[in-house]
Amino acid sequence: MCLRAVSACASAQWQISYVASVPVITVDGPSGVGKGTISHMLADRLGWHLLDSGALYRVTGQACVIEGVSWDDDPAVADVARHLDVAFSLAANGEMLVAYKGLDVSAAIRTEEGGRGASTVAAIPAVREALFARQRDFLQPPGLVADGRDMGTVVFPDAPLKFFLTASAAERAERRYKQLLEKGESVSLPRLLADIQERDERDSSRSVSPLVPAEDAIVIDSSATPISDVFARVMLEVKKKGFI
Ligand code: C5P
Repeated sequence: MCLRAVSACASAQWQISYVASVPVITVDGPSGVGKGTISHMLADRLGWHLLDSGALYRVTGQACVIEGVSWDDDPAVADVARHLDVAFSLAANGEMLVAYKGLDVSAAIRTEEGGRGASTVAAIPAVREALFARQRDFLQPPGLVADGRDMGTVVFPDAPLKFFLTASAAERAERRYKQLLEKGESVSLPRLLADIQERDERDSSRSVSPLVPAEDAIVIDSSATPISDVFARVMLEVKKKGFI
């Protein structure tokens, strides 16, 4: 029994140090700033795993809708987050598919309403606590690119390379407007801008894990910069760190 205990302990320690040696690059910033695109490109280029932490908050919001739980019922929302039956997979075209209890919710979570739900439930401390370990579970060899709001400050504070992308709210609303028009959705630009500003305010002013750059993050303003230039700047830092 003693031997088994020792070997279990040694194996746990090995696992902890092994996981601790897996590199993480964090990419944080407000919505519509291009983090998702940059994170995808980076994970592809490095052949690393990708954590889209916003998707976890979006699925939590959508799961509440499915389960008939109101977004402002904190204890019930936290319970939904604790038992979140979510699965991620890749479609043939490389798009990420998200299922809740086996039901495809990929499109539903990407709507403006899905974003509102995500940012409302994300302000509940017990929800963040419930999703913390799930996010850490994505840390697997050979490495992880983690996209979110608090990747560099809370979830992976020891990450060796952290980026924080910014862009003006007007620029982000304009980009989102074009994306939605391309998808054939009819939207109002002033409404989008108001939504983005409201979400920024909620994300930045919440008591837990507010949206702020980590002290050691490299801040990149992407307002007037094409995404290819932002990626080139990111790759420069990745090379400096010796990841490639
Ligand atoms: O990144 P995305 O727009 O999908 O995130 C949706 C919402 O989820 C954000 O507006 C934010 O409120 C919340 N979120 C968060 N922490 C993260 C990722 C997303 O609070 N790490």
